Amino acid sequence: MKILIINGAPRNNGYTEDLLALFTTGAVVAGGRVEQIDLRDYDVRPCAGCFHCWDPKHDGRCSRNDDMAMLMEKFLDSDALVLATPVYYYSFSALIKAFLERLLPTSLPIITQGGEIGLERNTERYPDRGPDRAALVAVGAHRNPKTMDGLVKTFELICDGIYAKPVGKLLRSESFFLDFDAGKPITGRKVRMAFERAGAELVREGCFSAQTESDASLPFTRDLETFRRNSATYWQIAREIGAGGNDREQLGAAVSKDLRILAHELAACYDPVAAGDLEAVILFDFQGEEADNWYLTIDKGRCAASGGTHQSPTLTLETTEETLVEIILQRLDARTALASGDMKATGSRSLLGRFSRIFPPPST
Ligand SMILES: Cc1cc2nc3c(=O)[nH]c(=O)nc-3n(C[C@H](O)[C@H](O)[C@H](O)COP(=O)(O)O)c2cc1C
Repeated sequence: MKILIINGAPRNNGYTEDLLALFTTGAVVAGGRVEQIDLRDYDVRPCAGCFHCWDPKHDGRCSRNDDMAMLMEKFLDSDALVLATPVYYYSFSALIKAFLERLLPTSLPIITQGGEIGLERNTERYPDRGPDRAALVAVGAHRNPKTMDGLVKTFELICDGIYAKPVGKLLRSESFFLDFDAGKPITGRKVRMAFERAGAELVREGCFSAQTESDASLPFTRDLETFRRNSATYWQIAREIGAGGNDREQLGAAVSKDLRILAHELAACYDPVAAGDLEAVILFDFQGEEADNWYLTIDKGRCAASGGTHQSPTLTLETTEETLVEIILQRLDARTALASGDMKATGSRSLLGRFSRIFPPPST
């Protein structure tokens, strides 16, 4: 199977690019032939709306002289089309939009209502050419998948118009969380595996399975409040380190170990069954400004993280932010940190002994 990926991401180091790389790996390992066109590297201007290509004298040629003629050949030569786009204003990026507009020569040179909805493929000019199936890869930063509804609908209408069967959609919201999935490492892995599996499924089965589509869309945040808080922290850190959203490596590393996110993730790991009827306050004292401290309040089967200090904690853990981060990420055991002197505990020792049972590693 010849798969043509049309990538409409304007930036080359984004999440669309990463996820497409996984997709391609899966497809190639399964025996597919994949060509990826990064539209940002080509000159494809929007349709001029002149209907030059519909004039029989021009035999489907466009009035514009740019890279689309060459890309049209690739399109016509492919068995499967993958439209990959970052979600821009609830829709395709402008790069993809321009590419799609330039498919006009493949449509019948007449606007009828003969087809289901609108444009109909010109099967006289291209009787046996062009992809007979198409898939969508959409990557957006918002949380609510509904922001992709318009994009998905447009994709389906396009499939109808080019006579390609829609064979799958990988809809990835919360894109920025791919770089700091510390609170949900299992979800991060499942999402990445789903993109790779989708490539293989397209080659072997001709479509994506429901499980793969669902795994690709697994939520990274528990609820809207967590999304808002973590997202706000992300952009706050971007401003603090002056990285902007584009230096993903630096930003991802900084965000992954930021307690403004991790303290809440630790609270979310709280196991009320292991805690029983525990009522306690655990203060993390970093021996600096009190405002930089964090504490966990455990009460009535719930646990919440708060920034700042507490006057009467049940247990105080004096440590550094780095050590606490290692403990939260389960790379360091609290008892080992105590034994080595990296952490000092005052207050309830029994609570300390229960720490790793009350806060088990994230299960999602
Ligand atoms: C101009 C612009 C408009 C955007 N509009 C949306 C949107 O409507 N919905 C959404 O979920 N994300 C939106 N985003 C966020 C991008 O989809 C997100 O940053 C995505 O990760 C970009 O893909 P990339 O990482 O491959 O660059 C927008 C970003 C930009 C720059």
